[in-house]
Amino acid sequence: MTSVDTPHNARPVGVRWREEVRRLVKRRDAVVLAHNYQLPEIQDVADFTGDSLALSRIAAGSNASTTVFCGVHFMAETAKLLAPDKTVLIPDARAGCSLADSITAEQLRDWKAQHPTAAVVSYVNTTADVKAETDICCTSSNAVDVIASIPPHQDILFCPDKFLGAHVRRETGRTNIRVWDGECHVHAGINGAELNQRVSANPGAELFVHPECGCATSALYLAGEGILPPEQVNILSTGDMVRRARSTRASTVLVATEIGMLHQLRKVAPDVDFRPVNDEASCRYMKMITPAALLRSLREGTDEVRIDPRIAARARESVQRMIRIGEPGGGE
Ligand code: 13P
Ligand code: SF4
Repeated sequence: MTSVDTPHNARPVGVRWREEVRRLVKRRDAVVLAHNYQLPEIQDVADFTGDSLALSRIAAGSNASTTVFCGVHFMAETAKLLAPDKTVLIPDARAGCSLADSITAEQLRDWKAQHPTAAVVSYVNTTADVKAETDICCTSSNAVDVIASIPPHQDILFCPDKFLGAHVRRETGRTNIRVWDGECHVHAGINGAELNQRVSANPGAELFVHPECGCATSALYLAGEGILPPEQVNILSTGDMVRRARSTRASTVLVATEIGMLHQLRKVAPDVDFRPVNDEASCRYMKMITPAALLRSLREGTDEVRIDPRIAARARESVQRMIRIGEPGGGE
């Protein structure tokens, strides 16, 4: 099999595929970035693996003229916002996000019209059109700091994730945050009943829970009720999970997020037994970035991410305001 001739939907893994990817990366003067939820072979061939914010910042700071973003579309868009003069490619532009799809710019404009004095905080899992209507973006690693940067008396509209919204409300104790009713289909499906069952079956295990999960409230309940010691319950972004994995003393960790995360965790802490809370929590959009799609992208320069310059200018402001607050995100 010559990996170069493999059809787009096959998975041509192996040494020849890897060598061909790296040869094309060099020829294109590119850097390959992979989100923590990508297929293991994509994570392993990439120059950097990390969370959504860390990767965008790496894209902006790299010397390469082309960024190949192995993740979903809003992530590649954010990289383009931060580095408008670079070419940004995503190996399959159909790789969307059910959370980003849960609010449109028009819906946000209508919501703002009902609350004209409120500040708008949007999760980076949104389209550039929604970011252009936003005052300040946040990610799962800095959402609490972003909310804390807004004067306490000012009302806040938080979109689109209701579970992350509940998390920041809980953490900041603010009651003037209105939360949009959106969710990620993958994380909403990791529920409290499943978590409780896994916790009972694995006494002593530490918990890593992404704040987009339907079970985040249950995890905090277990800590609050003394069923688990609070230090065993960690609500973390994907980048912070990698950081925490490096220092954990637990022998078993239950992981509540998309299952691609396990590859990176097992790589950085091979002696720890990482177990998924829901082993079917796989994001079909993330998995559209196949080895063959990456090869095609590098060979043909597809799919290029373009953003209307007027939208991009406003959207960039909301991302840069977030970056000025500081939390860098977590990357390799
Ligand atoms: P992170 O920002 O934690 O990488 O998460 C992105 C995402 O899509 C979670 O589902
Ligand atoms: Fe979007 Fe959910 Fe997939 Fe993350 S896991 S990219 S939030 S659909």
